[in-house]
Amino acid sequence: MNHIKLEEKHQMLEQELANVKVLDELKIFESSFRKIIKILFAEMKDLSAKDKQEAGQKINRFKNLFEAKIAEIKIKLQEQVESEVQADLSIASAEYVRGKVHPLIRVGKMLEDVYKEMGFSIVYGPEIESDRHNYEMLNMPYYHPARDMQDTFYLEYDPEKVNENILLRSHTSCVQVRYMLENKPPFMIISPGVVYRTDEIDPQHTPCFYQVEGLVVGDGINLANLKWAVIESVKRIFGEEYQIRFPPSYYPYTEPSAAMDMSCIMCAGKGCRSCKGTGWMRVGGAGMVHPNVFEAVGYPRSTTGFAFGWGLNKFPMLYYKIAEMRKLFENEIALWEQL
Ligand code: DAH
Repeated sequence: MNHIKLEEKHQMLEQELANVKVLDELKIFESSFRKIIKILFAEMKDLSAKDKQEAGQKINRFKNLFEAKIAEIKIKLQEQVESEVQADLSIASAEYVRGKVHPLIRVGKMLEDVYKEMGFSIVYGPEIESDRHNYEMLNMPYYHPARDMQDTFYLEYDPEKVNENILLRSHTSCVQVRYMLENKPPFMIISPGVVYRTDEIDPQHTPCFYQVEGLVVGDGINLANLKWAVIESVKRIFGEEYQIRFPPSYYPYTEPSAAMDMSCIMCAGKGCRSCKGTGWMRVGGAGMVHPNVFEAVGYPRSTTGFAFGWGLNKFPMLYYKIAEMRKLFENEIALWEQL
């Protein structure tokens, strides 16, 4: 064993150890120290028996010396870390900013709670739908012009197989079909969810929005029941004095059909940009379920029931007086903080 070599290593390691300031550095030092020891022992193999013994003792002394130093420094550095942690505890913590539930989700929850109170159950359907559930079984065969008003995005499109095509649902009305295929009346359900359309963005439209669908089927259900359920739910959210009207409308899956308008809160009915100058805001559609829909799901044509669909995006607009629907999708913190 080369005595000078051991001396050199000793000095080098002493220097390196003096530079160690934190536990991670000590770990790195320890692993390179172990490598050196390994090499030193390996180099002994060519020595004579006598020299081997002497070298072995030297290396062991060297090893014990540094192991003791490492252990000592480790304790010091650990104590240092613990005292730093304690010091940290006394420092004032960073301000905790609490997030908020998005107004759309909040209003959606309000609607869900109101309908639950009124005896409705909540059911969900998939956003990726078949043409059959979204259009065909709702009395909109492939040639029906009403499909144009609700054009959507297709994930699979083959003009030869219209009803099998796969799309993003354009309304939550397809949950009516899905539910009726699996259940027998009487029932009262609502189904909240996201829907998609190829709509250009403007103050009242976005290509992705929320709806809440309602369906009530049972003996002797009539239009008066529909009006009561809709008016009652609006009153429970917006208050007794809130105005709602049902102008005649057309949907292939209801007969008769009505739109649902709420008085524009932004201008108190005087007419503004948000309500396109009419004083009213179209918030959804409704009607008595068409016998063709009942037939499509295997119910007798004489079955009675009503359905309605809210465009949920209008609710936070009305509830919080947000003039433009697209604001709901913009990260405008200054706006959210006011709600
Ligand atoms: N699905 C319609 C839409 O998206 C809304 C609607 C109208 C739902 C009439 C209904 C209904 O259940 O009966 O515009």
